[in-house]
Amino acid sequence: MANRERFLELMGEILERRWFSNDGPVVRDFESAISRFLGVKHCIATCNATVALEIAAKALGLEAEVIVPSFTFVATAHALQWLGITPVFCDVDPGTHNIDPAAVERLITSRSTGILGVHLWGTPCEIEVLQEIADRHELALFFDAAHAFGCTYAGEYVGRFGRCEIFSFHATKFLHSFEGGAITTDDDELAENARRMRNFGFEGYDNVVSAGINGKMSEPCAAMGLTNLECIEGLVESNRQSYRAYCAGLEGIPGIRVVKYDERETCNFQFVVLELDSEAFGMSRDELVDRLQRCGVLARKYFWPGVHRMEAYRSRLSEASLSLSNTEWLAERVVTLPAGTAVDKDEISGICSLIRGSARD
Ligand SMILES: Cc1ncc(COP(=O)(O)O)c(C=O)c1O
Repeated sequence: MANRERFLELMGEILERRWFSNDGPVVRDFESAISRFLGVKHCIATCNATVALEIAAKALGLEAEVIVPSFTFVATAHALQWLGITPVFCDVDPGTHNIDPAAVERLITSRSTGILGVHLWGTPCEIEVLQEIADRHELALFFDAAHAFGCTYAGEYVGRFGRCEIFSFHATKFLHSFEGGAITTDDDELAENARRMRNFGFEGYDNVVSAGINGKMSEPCAAMGLTNLECIEGLVESNRQSYRAYCAGLEGIPGIRVVKYDERETCNFQFVVLELDSEAFGMSRDELVDRLQRCGVLARKYFWPGVHRMEAYRSRLSEASLSLSNTEWLAERVVTLPAGTAVDKDEISGICSLIRGSARD
């Protein structure tokens, strides 16, 4: 945690006030601080990003089919499926790992109502191209920005693009509130609908005007989020140092490519992601992950085997829809390494030596 004293101070105030949830003052402070930081009009804090995605899809009035990348965390698709909306899986660009706009265009049908882009690893999607496609086909474009808090696109913070964007503040994210999420938007009406849906459809104290869900963030979660937000520069700096130490330590290892951030933009450097070419490296991706884990390093394969190949989806897809070649190619190669405040310089150097020592001579 970035500042233990500050968190305990806020927790002390919460305990004194005995106001633990239901749009309390710390949640409101957290929402205002997020809005100010991102330069966006509205922030609606939620209990997590998955519920925020569901609320956003409902508030946008989506139905039938929404196009999503398959190379993402399963929650992106589940949020739609849970609402009875069919996620239509789209391939990604193998360079950026993000949804491929040309592939999106090919998947649009008369049943499409929206496009849900994911700013994977904090790298923004091709937002302008996607917006142009969405406008031309009258589709709602929104973004799963779970990885992208504090990242910019063309110099502007992610958070104001499309109809709305959704953040995750889960404990694994660099800006975390234990569990939490948020919907951000400049759209007044959408914000009002989402805020009402987050609280069972209540408008005011005792007037229920629509169906809703319990998507509220609690006060202790907001206290953690606010504390971390106040220290965000230090958190990003620590992530940046880890990322740069990995880039230097893994330089020149055959078959290893560190996925690079575009440092002309502001990045959060939250993830250290490798693509492994097992032939050049001399060991399969799974063997490397195994070896690292046996040495106590929390390396992970990510988004394997691609959401379209996970059950809940796989058995209802046709052979043609089951084949997303770039997604499958990446899902067989990607490894993430422990990053940010979870590792210090010496640990990073040890992990890099382990990887170097596993490579073919
Ligand atoms: C891309 C993406 N979307 C959505 C989520 C879900 O976030 P939450 O755990 O806050 O529901 C995650 C969580 O890791 C994620 O990585």
